[in-house]
Amino acid sequence: MPQCMTWMKLTMADARISWISGPVLRAATDSGFRISESVLVGENRLLGEVIRIDASSITVQVYEDTSGLKPGDPVAGTGNELSVRLGPGLLGNIYDGLLRPLSTQDRHIRQGYETPVSNKRFPFIPDVEPGQQVSAGHVIGHVDLKDARSLLCQTPPDCQGQVISVVETGEYTEDEIICEIAGDDDITRNISLGQQWPVRRPRPVRERIPPEGPMLTGQRVLDSIFPLSCGGRAAMPGGFGTGKTVLQETLAKWCDADIIIYVGCGERGNEMAGVLHEFPTLDDPLTGRPLMERTVIIANTSNMPVAAREASIYTAVTVGEYFRDQGMRVALMADSTSRWAESLREISGRLGELPSEAGYPAYISSRLADFYERAAHVRTLDGRLGSLSIIGAVSPPSADFSEPVTTHTKRYVRSFWALDPERAHARFYPAINPLISYTQDIEILQDYWKQQGHPQWAEQRRRFLTLLEEQARLERMARIVGKDALPPRQRHVLMCAELINDAFLRQSAYSENDRFCSPERQIAMMQIITHFIEQTEAAIAAGVDVDRITDMKVMRRLHRMNEGISENELDRFQLLQNSLDAELGLVTRGVDGSAG
Ligand SMILES: Nc1ncnc2c1ncn2[C@@H]1O[C@H](COP(=O)(O)OP(=O)(O)OP(=O)(O)O)[C@@H](O)[C@H]1O
Ligand SMILES: [Mg+2]
Repeated sequence: MPQCMTWMKLTMADARISWISGPVLRAATDSGFRISESVLVGENRLLGEVIRIDASSITVQVYEDTSGLKPGDPVAGTGNELSVRLGPGLLGNIYDGLLRPLSTQDRHIRQGYETPVSNKRFPFIPDVEPGQQVSAGHVIGHVDLKDARSLLCQTPPDCQGQVISVVETGEYTEDEIICEIAGDDDITRNISLGQQWPVRRPRPVRERIPPEGPMLTGQRVLDSIFPLSCGGRAAMPGGFGTGKTVLQETLAKWCDADIIIYVGCGERGNEMAGVLHEFPTLDDPLTGRPLMERTVIIANTSNMPVAAREASIYTAVTVGEYFRDQGMRVALMADSTSRWAESLREISGRLGELPSEAGYPAYISSRLADFYERAAHVRTLDGRLGSLSIIGAVSPPSADFSEPVTTHTKRYVRSFWALDPERAHARFYPAINPLISYTQDIEILQDYWKQQGHPQWAEQRRRFLTLLEEQARLERMARIVGKDALPPRQRHVLMCAELINDAFLRQSAYSENDRFCSPERQIAMMQIITHFIEQTEAAIAAGVDVDRITDMKVMRRLHRMNEGISENELDRFQLLQNSLDAELGLVTRGVDGSAG
């Protein structure tokens, strides 16, 4: 926001504070504020937003620490909605909830801090000429990044007309004017590499289109069992310490998106410190380039102002849409939306609003919808395909999934990855409970697996889930009658379900060999497990004792294949299958022999 404008307004002081309670305040005024207008509060010009207007007063939520403010202090309107500045300089940096850069030494923003004008220059190559007609989202030029990728400079969504002038190839800052456009509305627009966009307003697209392919994560339980489509929405609810943060970080490192937006939303400072210190040191495992080159981190820890936390998820989604509009696949991880909901509850409480379930305001559901609905697979204004996928962690108190944030979130997501305290206590990671998790994208993604040469994917997946379901039922029964009292077919179910759990679903984020699993390796593992299920089923039907099978030497190798066979040794799966067939053959022939 141009500094001169805000300063002029401040000296005219449109309102005077009459009441303050933490991050919210009321100010008496008779001038024309608008709802959602951003304001500057007090001598230190703290950033705030108008959230309610009465006949003679406005209510403002302030995005900074309000210590030191007092009744009578001025509140100045800016005439703009709460906006953030988007541009090529976003990548690789760490920001607060309002996209103000956090310094690497101390993660605090001093009061009244305004984003400094950056002198950083970007190599810009124009793609338009004077006289050319351009529509909204038209590519004016591009910026070549160090890692050989290009970022686009496009006309803003509300701008179309004729190019009057455009700069030559060269290095420009985000604020320099690179192109002038005579708009169809007779207003001349100055375009620079950076552009403002209001965080609460979704960026327009030509059309939203159904998802086509998956967003691959390298995690078997997700990709093969509960996959997320590109442009999809997933929730990851889990009680205390069930592995939400580790899983979000794992996805940020391994998922095949072009751009990662990671929002640490009200988490403890030390948890966020892990991300803040670790990410800048990591290389992108898929390209070998620094991971931060494709990452934007938005950090709003629990000790930072609560209202900024409320805004942070919209800020993040706006940044995501900016890259999506350039035709990229963007993945947004929010950890955790429960802390975000708490900020909503705190502000609502201070406003004296009537609380609804568990003290949350009645509009919590629509606010969650505002966030998740911005995930989409789209055709952009200039006709590209782009996607923004959202994965939100939820931290329900006492792991109770019937609490409001989890239940409302469930209405808006298509993939539900429920983390289970029992699995986590048994150090079974990722602790996703296959019996209560689900995804609604199976039909959409069937084609992808077909193209990968795995047309039986949906069928095999269903079989795995059925076995796991049966296992849960039989284990309850076995606790009463003892495992050995179960008939062979049921013991076979238990044996196969154990193999699925141990070898396929379990995947340590810290294992050198197994922290990432390619689609090819996932297919090989699914195939060999299915082969095992079918062959042992036939053997048992032919009279082989289940214990003889569980005692086979190859069983240990099967159970450990996730760690034992790495990405570059996929042919060893065939050797393992050969060993299985050979040993099972011996066991079966033993039966035949005695029968003969
Ligand atoms: N995928 C995984 N692989 C290996 N270990 C894991 C995995 N996920 C979690 N863990 C272990 O569990 C611990 C707790 O995980 P994490 O901090 O992610 O939980 P959380 O759900 O984010 O907790 P909180 O509720 O406190 O935010 C980790 O320190 C790690 O030791
Ligand atoms: Mg956590």
